[in-house]
Amino acid sequence: MPTDTEDLVSRLRNARTVVALTGAGVSSASGIPTFRGDDGLWKQYRAEDLATPEAFAHDPKLVWEWYDWRRATIAAAQPNAAHAVLAKWSQRPGFTLITQNVDGLHERAGTNNVIRFHGSIWELRCAAECGAAPWDDHTAPMATLPPMCPSCGGIARPGIVWFGENIDPDVLERASAAAAAADVFLSIGTSSLVFPAAGLLHHAKRNGAFTVEINPGATDVSRVVDLPIAAPAEDALGMLDARVRMG
Ligand code: APR
Repeated sequence: MPTDTEDLVSRLRNARTVVALTGAGVSSASGIPTFRGDDGLWKQYRAEDLATPEAFAHDPKLVWEWYDWRRATIAAAQPNAAHAVLAKWSQRPGFTLITQNVDGLHERAGTNNVIRFHGSIWELRCAAECGAAPWDDHTAPMATLPPMCPSCGGIARPGIVWFGENIDPDVLERASAAAAAADVFLSIGTSSLVFPAAGLLHHAKRNGAFTVEINPGATDVSRVVDLPIAAPAEDALGMLDARVRMG
């Protein structure tokens, strides 16, 4: 095994704090399309027509038809080996998982301490912000589109952070604090193009973390990290876990 991967194995063994930031690539082996890959959602659809507050205001039914299709796709999928390793590692104190994924597959794999940076496709909230607390709804397909707020009867929206919307300040604070305190920061299955999520690795590196990228494709951070691992997450994490025995 290359010395730098051996180095990573010993760092993972001895680390007090480990942070993993995940993106759509981690769910790719579960059959969930990524956003910018060859089969990517943004190759087939225009993000501005489906994942912005303006798009929702313009045609909430169209937006909900698309989310209903994604929910049905995700409901039929299973967590893969990458989710399983990260779920196992999350049992260890000092491990934090920050995910950009809204699919809930990390949670379904049994991962503890998940920071949902972009929200959840299974959470709904009142689009009119009538004061009703957000609620979970796992029905797929949904009975009615668009679904309604049980409190005010208005339209409900997905509990997802859309383009042009801010990250929940508490979520941003927790993710930034975890990144700053990381001994090892793993960026897994993300194109590192969407900020502020893509800024977390740089924040961790500035604060002394050993940074790693796991991605079969090159990204803007492949030259920035201490160790780029050009492999699918489901393979690389399996290999690392076998070496580290963190569980
Ligand atoms: N293992 C690891 N990485 C993979 C795999 C795999 N099996 N398959 C693909 N990848 C990589 C691709 O090379 C690509 O760099 O995963 C990355 C997926 O990138 P994107 O599709 O851009 O997804 P992501 O980075 O999660 O997008 C960020 O953008 O569309 C918004 O809000 C949405 O959370 C999303 C954000």
